[in-house]
Amino acid sequence: MAVINVTNRSGEQHAIEAKPGNTVMEILRDADMDVEAICGGCCSCATCHIFVDDAWAGKVGERSEDEQELVEQTDSYKPDNSRLSCQIKFTDDLDGLVVTVAPAE
Ligand code: FES
Repeated sequence: MAVINVTNRSGEQHAIEAKPGNTVMEILRDADMDVEAICGGCCSCATCHIFVDDAWAGKVGERSEDEQELVEQTDSYKPDNSRLSCQIKFTDDLDGLVVTVAPAE
């Protein structure tokens, strides 16, 4: 079983089961980790904003131009760690991924 290690908005840490093929947003949302994902994964709401741990930041791929534009408008934007979790496809290579759910806007 692959896992994602998540810190939610209350600061609680959870290791949640993660199914390869789903997006990180879908995995976090379905596990009730404070990810609203209002747009359903269309890269247009930024309510799936997470911070990817430094050790994993280079392994989750690059932001698209659309993602970059949206995520840098958030109040809590961190250039090295911010991602929209709907834009990260979970794969076996990401087993053990460490993320923190960003504060609500
Ligand atoms: S779910 Fe809306 S931008 Fe990711």
